[in-house]
Amino acid sequence: MRNTNQDVKTIYRKDYVAPGYWVDTVEMGFDLHPQRTHVATRLHMRRNHDSAEKDLILFGEDIQLHQLRLNGVDLKRSAYQRNKERLIISNAPDTVVLEIETSIAADKNTTMSGLYVSNGNFFTQCEAEGFRKITYFPDRPDVMATYTVMLRADKKQFPVLLSNGNLIEQGDLGDGRHYAKWEDPFKKPSYLFALVAGKLVCQEEKYRLKSGRKVLLQVWVEEGNLDKTQHAMDSLKNSIRWDEERFGLELDLDRFMIVATSDFNMGAMENKGLNIFNTKYVLANSRTATDADYAGIESVVGHEYFHNWTGNRVTCRDWFQLSLKEGLTVFRDQEFSGDLVGNATGRAVKRIEDVRILRQHQFPEDAGPMSHPVRPDSYAEINNFYTVTVYEKGSEVVRMYYTLLGHEGFRKGMDLYFQRHDGQAVTCDDFRAAMADANGRDLSQFERWYSQAGTPRVKADGEYDAKRHVYRLKLSQACPATAGQDHKLPFHIPFAMGLLQQDGSEFALQLESGKAHPQAPRSIILELTQETQEFEFHHIEHEPTPSLLRNFSAPVILDFDYSDAQLAHLLAHDSDAFCRWEAGQRLAMRRLLKLVKSVQNGEALALDDMFVEALRKTLVDANLDPAFRELVMTLPSEVMLAEEMEIADPHSIHQARRFVRASLAQALKAEFLSVYQDHLTPGKYKPDAVSAGKRALKNCALSYLLEWSHESTYELAYTQYFEAENMTDKVAALSAMLHCSSALQPQYQARRAEVLQDFFDEFQHEALVIDKWFSLQACAPSTDVKQIRQLMKHKAFSLANPNRARSLIFAFCNANPAQFHAADGSAYELWGDAVIALNKLNPQVAARLARSLDRWTKYPVAQQEMMRAALQRVATTKGLSKDVAEIVNKALAMKTELCL
Ligand code: TRP
Ligand code: ZN
Repeated sequence: MRNTNQDVKTIYRKDYVAPGYWVDTVEMGFDLHPQRTHVATRLHMRRNHDSAEKDLILFGEDIQLHQLRLNGVDLKRSAYQRNKERLIISNAPDTVVLEIETSIAADKNTTMSGLYVSNGNFFTQCEAEGFRKITYFPDRPDVMATYTVMLRADKKQFPVLLSNGNLIEQGDLGDGRHYAKWEDPFKKPSYLFALVAGKLVCQEEKYRLKSGRKVLLQVWVEEGNLDKTQHAMDSLKNSIRWDEERFGLELDLDRFMIVATSDFNMGAMENKGLNIFNTKYVLANSRTATDADYAGIESVVGHEYFHNWTGNRVTCRDWFQLSLKEGLTVFRDQEFSGDLVGNATGRAVKRIEDVRILRQHQFPEDAGPMSHPVRPDSYAEINNFYTVTVYEKGSEVVRMYYTLLGHEGFRKGMDLYFQRHDGQAVTCDDFRAAMADANGRDLSQFERWYSQAGTPRVKADGEYDAKRHVYRLKLSQACPATAGQDHKLPFHIPFAMGLLQQDGSEFALQLESGKAHPQAPRSIILELTQETQEFEFHHIEHEPTPSLLRNFSAPVILDFDYSDAQLAHLLAHDSDAFCRWEAGQRLAMRRLLKLVKSVQNGEALALDDMFVEALRKTLVDANLDPAFRELVMTLPSEVMLAEEMEIADPHSIHQARRFVRASLAQALKAEFLSVYQDHLTPGKYKPDAVSAGKRALKNCALSYLLEWSHESTYELAYTQYFEAENMTDKVAALSAMLHCSSALQPQYQARRAEVLQDFFDEFQHEALVIDKWFSLQACAPSTDVKQIRQLMKHKAFSLANPNRARSLIFAFCNANPAQFHAADGSAYELWGDAVIALNKLNPQVAARLARSLDRWTKYPVAQQEMMRAALQRVATTKGLSKDVAEIVNKALAMKTELCL
């Protein structure tokens, strides 16, 4: 490939060397001024005699260095080497006190990494490598130290001064300035450092731990938002209690703070004792937030809190081990949300939602240019590796330990992990060793889940021997080649399964012949470790319907040649809710893929009664959880359909899916109407899972009803919009009106424009709601590139605010495939313009957007050519960040017919 002008250095896991010096204590003094913040740092360092690194190496980026003093002596310029990234002192003594004075222009920092200003307030973001934008430091996670931080600032402008740990002193400095001194008693890596300064207010509460110790909990927000902090506070208390009960882990600080900012690159950050959050994951009340927002807040508050043990007390040796903390903490937050719902179906609904995210985002990632193992072997920019693979697949890997070792066994493994490694920076191998040793198990083959990329495929074949009453299940596994990995070795796969009888009950599963054991379990976990294995089940009196990969016991693609009748049987009876849902998805997927072909061939489209009947039964089954019914009624997404095709065809996919929705709406309109009426949630809004499930099913019915183009249903949505007393119902009505096929019909134009305007007027001062307003339009099937460009000129739009940029541009590029892949390639140009503009402002966010073209080789040649041209244009842009360069260079390196 040609674009070598943007060559970026690759960092390899195999090159890990322990640091030449440890840092024991860090003392920092900040004089905060937006234009020029002065930072004085004192480091107590000592040589690491076990390291091959003899120099004292510090990292630094985009900061002014004013003074450097070693053991009390000013260092002359000739005493150290310095380039854009590093400062190296050779021949330093074994014990060093290093004093560093630097300054930062935080108000000019648009990257939201390091020290930056948002709405007049100071924030920091140091993960992964932001601390080096504050001072020179061995900014790597295996260097752990205790921190004392003195903050000084103008009292009027910055009345609140926060940092990690405990507040030990505060007071006035005269001249209108004041100070606060913070001390964090726990050793931490620099990426967990944080400070916040500005005009903020908090909701606070004293909370009693199980041990009886009292802690202070605070949620800090901008003035005017105190009516939106209760849910975050409740979620925090639930998190604290859950970690005590489920893992025996107690909050180790006397004070725990959450601060919200509207300018944030990611969801939130687990800085020790001072979590910093995107407002999206803190602020909620029934007027502004949806059920999904409430659920998101609960899981992110949980996630960051759980990091206090999995990430902070035990941290990563190097950034290749990122999944050690992220995969494990996602697993913990998923379990937390599941446990809070409390019942089996609620838990299954949560599981299905998590699997859907994995399939929608991680499977495509693993099949594209950014495919990497859960523990990557190399990177150019670490920020590009905060991926769905590291997070979600990483969580699945942790979940497989849980499945293999059981509830108690997993807990024993966790206990041993903390016993061995509290206060240390460790590796994924250390975690696996703790799991293995605590349970006396050999988990060496399990290592391949960390080292091999790609989504394994498990092929299952069943054979029933009616004479012997034996069901034989043959399982084989294979994993496709991925970038840099041609041949894969077999994985250790926990494969949960059951066998359904004709009446829907389950056979007892007995793997050995001989006497029948009626008490044998009805669901078991097979361990697939070879390429191919066979299992024989005895005393199976008639041909069973296999229920396979129950609860999605491994992150694989399962191939089994189900008949429609078998799928309908599973959908009607399977006791495993995941497989039950999955059966419905398979029925739908099969039909959708066939219809896509029909659209392509210009054939007439038709939907069979058998499928409609199967869905009808589920839709009206009052014994089923509404939330579960909604999941079954939701067809596989356009993105998932595209992944199933050799050559993706977004327009035909869109039409086929639209046709199935309209056909279901037509066939089931009476059922949808009564489901709608039966699941209203009058009275005070409650965000709990049961109420949210009712709303989800009701609003799903509404969206189907609008596919059946009729005045009365459009009226239903219109009325719901104006009468809704919560954001969930309001936004669902608006979405249905914008996204249904009738939205395109002229008689609805006026009402559509009216609700859009009304929504904007009512919520123009609620940034998170205006994000929804942009997103809804960006994803509407009728919104084309021109309208997106128009919306980018709207007074409320800003590319510099990541939430806003995501709400419009990311939403369009990632969630409106039929428009994004417009035949003339005009949307690729929009994508290029936005990536190039963002690259200057915020490379991290730009690189995320750059990934929208990851799957470019999956499209027809004409589209491929236009996408490649767009990628090429970005790749050759002057001043390209290494963040964006890494993404587009990897995309361009994909093999395609065009290269032949
Ligand atoms: N550690 C954070 C989390 O998962 C992720 C994060 C927040 C992050 N901000 C970031 C990662 C900035 C990279 C850059 O909870
Ligand atoms: Zn995390």
